[in-house]
Amino acid sequence: MSHSSLKDFLSEVENFKAETKEQLEEFRLKFLSKKGIVAELFSQLKTIAAENRKEFGLEVNKLKKAAEEKFENFRYLYEKKTADVSGIDITLPGEPFLIGSHHPVSIVRKKIISIFSHIGFSLSEGPEIEDDWHNFSALNFPEDHPARDMQDTFFVKTENGTRPYALRTHTSSVQVRVMESTKPPIRTISPGRVYRNEAISARAHCFFHQVEGLYVDEGVSFADLKQTLLYFAREMFGADSQIRLRPSYFPFTEPSAEMDVSCFLCHGKGCNVCKYTGWVEILGCGMVHPAVLENCKIDSNRYTGYAFGMGIERITMLLYGIKDLRLFSQNDVRFLQQFAGL
Ligand code: DAH
Repeated sequence: MSHSSLKDFLSEVENFKAETKEQLEEFRLKFLSKKGIVAELFSQLKTIAAENRKEFGLEVNKLKKAAEEKFENFRYLYEKKTADVSGIDITLPGEPFLIGSHHPVSIVRKKIISIFSHIGFSLSEGPEIEDDWHNFSALNFPEDHPARDMQDTFFVKTENGTRPYALRTHTSSVQVRVMESTKPPIRTISPGRVYRNEAISARAHCFFHQVEGLYVDEGVSFADLKQTLLYFAREMFGADSQIRLRPSYFPFTEPSAEMDVSCFLCHGKGCNVCKYTGWVEILGCGMVHPAVLENCKIDSNRYTGYAFGMGIERITMLLYGIKDLRLFSQNDVRFLQQFAGL
């Protein structure tokens, strides 16, 4: 087989016109079938002188590719021409593509992380199965504190019957881990899932999400906490937001407070969301208790710190007017789809 005849085959492939079924079959038989030209050329390969074999092989491959492409092209055009569209209603609207959406809790978690990352807070995480020390003792919970009770906490059974592990009941456990492993200055937030032994209802669930915040350095004051929270509230709920701090109690902070934000729906006029008070409760906070700093081997004479903790579902419910906590974990597409594009 000479070079020139190979070239002739190539131009024959290129100029072939196959419009009918018979021509299509003719083309296939001639070039691509078991006894066709391409197969025949390949079978000649071993008879070609070694020095020409590679070039010959490449040329035959080229021919094969060209013939296959041409054949597919013919077939496509033939099928298009002869397709039977009777019985198909081409005016029917197409099936819409369902585009996924972020979960509302993820949307709000991301927003919280972004707000705090702009003012230098790093991200930290801790385990969901936590020991008594990190979840309670280091945080200054007295031995007989009711929060340790079976009512609130899912304890993890161990083989010898002791129960040193629990599903963490709050992300405050992560502040202990961070303080134990890092030297001040510390400025971090810790988002994560937490668990409580609660009956499931529209207002309570056995798991939800929190974001914990912690800032420890020399000279950190309550004024720093207040200003940081005001910045957060304005970024999260709108530039005209006001905050107020009410005295409260947490074992791991002293003094402790709860923060309310001015109602971003009615702007103080009074509505369902703020229960006609003009304020909605958003988070707990305070100055890290010196005993907690000492538990984490941080010198409480030299360092002070503040901490805060907020529930992500709670903020999400307020922002989007969601009335039932269970919606977050039912994965009903009708609910989730409403957050597409956010
Ligand atoms: N851990 C508290 C809770 O789960 C929230 C909290 C309150 C965290 C005050 C804090 C804080 O860091 O200072 O209800």
